[in-house]
Amino acid sequence: MKTTAHPDARLALTTKGETTTVDLYSPEGLAMVSDLWLKLSAEFKVMYEPTWMGVRIIQLPHDIVQVQELIWRLQPDVIVETGVAHGGSLIFSASLLELMGKGHVIGIDVEIRAHNRANIEAHPMKKRITLIEGSSVAAETVAQVKALTRDAKTVLVLLDSNHSAAHVAEEIKLYGPLVTDGSYLVVMDGAQGHVSDIPRGKAEWVQDNPLTAIRQFLATNPGFVMDPHYTRLHVTSNPEGYLRKLTSEEIAARGRAAAE
Ligand SMILES: C[S@@+](CC[C@H](N)C(=O)[O-])C[C@H]1O[C@@H](n2cnc3c(N)ncnc32)[C@H](O)[C@@H]1O
Repeated sequence: MKTTAHPDARLALTTKGETTTVDLYSPEGLAMVSDLWLKLSAEFKVMYEPTWMGVRIIQLPHDIVQVQELIWRLQPDVIVETGVAHGGSLIFSASLLELMGKGHVIGIDVEIRAHNRANIEAHPMKKRITLIEGSSVAAETVAQVKALTRDAKTVLVLLDSNHSAAHVAEEIKLYGPLVTDGSYLVVMDGAQGHVSDIPRGKAEWVQDNPLTAIRQFLATNPGFVMDPHYTRLHVTSNPEGYLRKLTSEEIAARGRAAAE
């Protein structure tokens, strides 16, 4: 289907008998279309479609581009990712590090299925990847990750495993301290609450989602700030999910400003 939409076009969305109407070519129109695109993508599982260097990556293309921007800017020595699934995201990070000529990716998953492990291990990017099988919040997993990140100058952490608020809150607590100053803790899939109203959505997603954990964390941890730069493409599974760890200079400057 090809849609005709002239400059005077209006969008009307009717749900539960209530209609919202906006100008299509307006910031509100862009927000509505982006929101609806996210809901439809979640309904039709579009995020399960992309592959990176032949391996399935469970991310929307917009988010892949945004994480690429972040990795290129930070040039991290270590990228830690919880939630491996097929491994495409690890291959993606590793491929960027390969182009930079440095760095390592640590992938953690409670269950790395045999065919996924075999695929990752046979991949040319495996040389930059360490797999850890175990719960991301288990003490022995965290101890291994700590040992592997100890000497790294820049550590970036991506959280994309179990998306319940409690699990994400625990991951933030355990992995936040591993993020180096000025680097990022990326908490993925905060949009789960937003897509709870799609046909295959679940009522419990409304509150039980990563965004709840992000907001609770930021409310009590002034050492991190949410960076809106990496969600500026409008469509994202990771709203409010890019958390930058302040440097000690920034924390001192904030302290001075508050005292004035
Ligand atoms: C959304 S998928 C990860 C997608 C992957 N990051 C990507 O971009 O392709 C979530 C993964 O988290 C894993 N998982 C669930 N609970 C976990 C836990 N407690 N610790 C570690 N991994 C977990 C699941 O086994 C699943 O493979």
